[in-house]
Amino acid sequence: MAELKEAVLVDGVRTPNFRAHKEKGWARHLRPDELLTYVYKALFERNPQVKPEDVDAVFCGTANQTGMQNDIARLGWLASGLPESVPTNGINQQCPSGMSAIEHACRAIMAGEGEIFIASGVEDMMNVPMAAGMDIPPRIAQYYNPMELPMGATAEKIAEVYNVSRADAELMAYWSHIKARDARDAGKFKDEIVPIPALDENGNEFLCDRDQWIRDNPSLEQMAQMQPAFKPDGIVTAAISSPLTVGACAALFMSREKADELGLSYHLRYGGGCMAGCDPTIMGIGPVYAVRKLLARKGLAIEDIELWELNEAFGTQALAVIRELGIGHNAPFDNINVWGGALALGHPLGESGCRIVITLNNIMKKDFPEAKRAIATLCGGFGNANATLWEKVE
Ligand SMILES: CC(C)(COP(=O)(O)OP(=O)(O)OC[C@H]1O[C@@H](n2cnc3c(N)ncnc32)[C@H](O)[C@@H]1OP(=O)(O)O)[C@@H](O)C(=O)NCCC(=O)NCCS
Repeated sequence: MAELKEAVLVDGVRTPNFRAHKEKGWARHLRPDELLTYVYKALFERNPQVKPEDVDAVFCGTANQTGMQNDIARLGWLASGLPESVPTNGINQQCPSGMSAIEHACRAIMAGEGEIFIASGVEDMMNVPMAAGMDIPPRIAQYYNPMELPMGATAEKIAEVYNVSRADAELMAYWSHIKARDARDAGKFKDEIVPIPALDENGNEFLCDRDQWIRDNPSLEQMAQMQPAFKPDGIVTAAISSPLTVGACAALFMSREKADELGLSYHLRYGGGCMAGCDPTIMGIGPVYAVRKLLARKGLAIEDIELWELNEAFGTQALAVIRELGIGHNAPFDNINVWGGALALGHPLGESGCRIVITLNNIMKKDFPEAKRAIATLCGGFGNANATLWEKVE
């Protein structure tokens, strides 16, 4: 058996994250395939050494593969005018779909099944609403209370089980916005965001290079006044939920030899990935199991990980994970979601698992150039979680 190759992250781009709203969303005139076109084209424009026809395969994560997102992996690629000879594969693991796309790409490289892969993710929660067309198997009621399966219900239950208060979750949301705002204002996202022709709330066109959901002046007082979103006597409001979002991203992975041959630089190597399953009624706790399994397999401890990107599906969920892993207690966290998380940046379901790796790469390059290891992780609807390890290439 040949030795495993190294898979390196050469480049990653994303659209801004837009509000999924038919009147207020800045990308309300676009379809999800069009968003993918912007990120695929940007990858080739930024890396002219890579010819589209030389890509071995494209993986694309999308949580809701229906309507405009039905086989969007293939149709989004072809509608971009990209070569039909390049195979595509749509991946669905709910929210971790984009991360799963990355794992497929990196594992193929490591196994020697190709040299150049694109991992991508897209979700348009305006044109394809969450759970549209979903038909939950009635027999699942033998094992789980169907009322406890929707995402909002799981965010409430995890708060009860792990004793997370509304005030602490609001603090998490507050800091998520502050960090995202500061990162945006310092131009930190410039390298990853592809500007998109957008429409403001009044219908005026503008070239958008910033995320729509970030609040410039988040207010704990205002958050405390908000009504629960999912349960009359609950604690989860819109402020401590990742908002409904539209976005796409794409990342270029190569074998280290290929990147060197093409003269392309890289900062991170894929250090391994691990999925874990958990109780779907508290699906948000999944990253704890995925991370523990990943660390055990790699012979690493929590202390060996210098940075974390942990998708904030809900404030209650993210805090439960952070506390269970023992990596923090209350926001702000200086090595977790350094440029903000999904509470502020938004969470286009199947896109986020790929987006957080792209952002992590930039955080490590710009703010923590000496950091050796980081983990990106996220939970997924119905109890699937995923975690990936990233190592600085020496
Ligand atoms: C919580 C949820 C139901 C709210 O949806 P919604 O009712 O459409 O509400 P919006 O997100 O549009 O927000 C409602 C209002 O609250 C405001 N709001 C949101 N966060 C706020 C904050 N931190 N402070 C003040 N106001 C806030 C919004 O700006 C909006 O007001 P506006 O229209 O005047 O701007 C929705 O965001 C949701 O379902 N989120 C979870 C998605 C999910 O499950 N993802 C998968 C995770 S696994």
